[in-house]
Amino acid sequence: LKKVSLFDNLNDEQLEQVVRISQRKTFNAGTTLFHEKDMGLTFYVVLSGSIKLFTRSAGGEEKVLSLVNGGESFGELSLLDGGPRSASAQTLEKTTVLELTSKQFMSLLETHFDITRAILVELCRRLRATNEHVNDLTFLDGRTRVLKNLIALANRSGKREGNVIAISMSLNYDELAQLAGVSKTVLTAVIRELETRGVLQFDLGEYKLNLDKLRG
Ligand code: CMP
Repeated sequence: LKKVSLFDNLNDEQLEQVVRISQRKTFNAGTTLFHEKDMGLTFYVVLSGSIKLFTRSAGGEEKVLSLVNGGESFGELSLLDGGPRSASAQTLEKTTVLELTSKQFMSLLETHFDITRAILVELCRRLRATNEHVNDLTFLDGRTRVLKNLIALANRSGKREGNVIAISMSLNYDELAQLAGVSKTVLTAVIRELETRGVLQFDLGEYKLNLDKLRG
């Protein structure tokens, strides 16, 4: 729990209280935790693994909105405003979460202003990220969007070995295309081009991004 930024300012006793009131659950890859438009009943803190948050068009096409990794949380919107779930949540790999009921979540917010502030800061971060994504969709071409998303994934969860960043990719091609807001055809063309230039190499389930070749 110590790497959960939401709980940064809680002491050991308070952390134990959070563990006592919450439920720890582990899900296999590909498990849907809830669907868009469901009623919101729980708040989730991800302890390990990763989750994709996505919406669907009327025609059934998916759009990945965001990825949630260990130490991060989600599911607060519908608890705070009483509306339906604004997105669906599905595990990308084996994932362990802490679940708090709406009542437990609200009581944490009431008793710990640090947690309330951390939730507000997280909501601000998401609004900024969404503005940036709208800006990217409006003003950047597809190739630049793919590159930008690969670099963001590398910065967020990549492991640096010299001039190469290894990104262990739990996203499939469709999901990566949705995240960048491009078609699968554009994604495939960009990845081919990057592979030909030696910027990107796919190896043992990992993308290796070569920073020297990227700059060159
Ligand atoms: P809730 O609406 O309860 O369920 C879906 C959750 O996805 C939502 O709460 C937020 O925690 C999260 N979420 C929704 N939209 C975004 C977004 N654009 N960026 C990051 N997280 C989001």
